[in-house]
Amino acid sequence: MKKRATQLACIGSGKMGEALVRGLLGSGAFRPDQIRAADRDPARCTVMEKTCGVSTYQDNREAVRGADLVLLAVKPQDMETALNEVGETLSSEAVVVSIAAGVTTNWLRQRLAGHPKVVRAMPNAAAWVSKSTTALYFCPGIGEQERKEIQEIFGTVGACVVVETEDHLDIVTGLSGSGPAYVFLLMESLAEAGVTLGLSRPVAVELALHTVLGSAHLALESGKPFAALREMICSPGGTTLAGLKVLEEGAFRALFLRAVEAATRRSRELAR
Ligand SMILES: NC(=O)c1ccc[n+]([C@@H]2O[C@H](COP(=O)([O-])OP(=O)(O)OC[C@H]3O[C@@H](n4cnc5c(N)ncnc54)[C@H](OP(=O)(O)O)[C@@H]3O)[C@@H](O)[C@H]2O)c1
Repeated sequence: MKKRATQLACIGSGKMGEALVRGLLGSGAFRPDQIRAADRDPARCTVMEKTCGVSTYQDNREAVRGADLVLLAVKPQDMETALNEVGETLSSEAVVVSIAAGVTTNWLRQRLAGHPKVVRAMPNAAAWVSKSTTALYFCPGIGEQERKEIQEIFGTVGACVVVETEDHLDIVTGLSGSGPAYVFLLMESLAEAGVTLGLSRPVAVELALHTVLGSAHLALESGKPFAALREMICSPGGTTLAGLKVLEEGAFRALFLRAVEAATRRSRELAR
């Protein structure tokens, strides 16, 4: 991506803040001198200086002064305090992007004196290895060019989709936000089955991990629907069909629907 003139302030430099800053630097989207990382924890500031070479701040007001892009990466319960400080020096032209789960744009804008340029992003834990799946919701005050830039920014840490309805971010949270944990459970279960049936644990773990990784690559590179790929590897009377029959009888799909529904419901309950 072309280097831009943007000055970015990252408010909260914990796991997600660091992952996003690393992704932006690693992709060449930003130079270290274009990023200011703020955290109330001095230890996190030291980590960001040492590992990312960016300037760091314990005062959010100073970090935000002159920034045209502000990334809010604190926990939802810390957002109110952070916004009170950010609001004091925020430029009226700055785009504010919050990655906090369940914190609505209305709530954010109310605490930023009605600031119109607010975006919500829902990344997932795979951002730590630049493989996030992120959904974005743009407030109407965000222009076309700004939308494009924000999509490019989150594109540096993985795949990115846009939702046109803010409510959909709760479903996103239930699906791809919590999704890595569902996939870990799937891998855990596959490996455990292998061990129970007689494989050594290292062999079973390796097989489970690379089966999930390879399947995702196959789906991505072939572009075929999941159902078509599943059918491709099922021969009549074969082993895969025997296994799938058990999963269908056990209401695997209905179980997943219930899991995503429960996580979506929880996201709505926690919303403010
Ligand atoms: N982790 C995920 O998988 C994930 C996925 C999607 C979205 N998110 C969202 O990402 C946000 C950050 O999550 P995280 O996992 O990166 O949390 P984290 O590791 O706890 O990082 C947050 C950092 O912000 C600091 N902080 C708290 N209040 C602050 C303030 N007022 N000013 C400056 N810094 C402040 C915290 O310091 P202290 O340690 O002293 O509190 C901490 O270092 C959350 O809102 C979460 O909903 C996370």
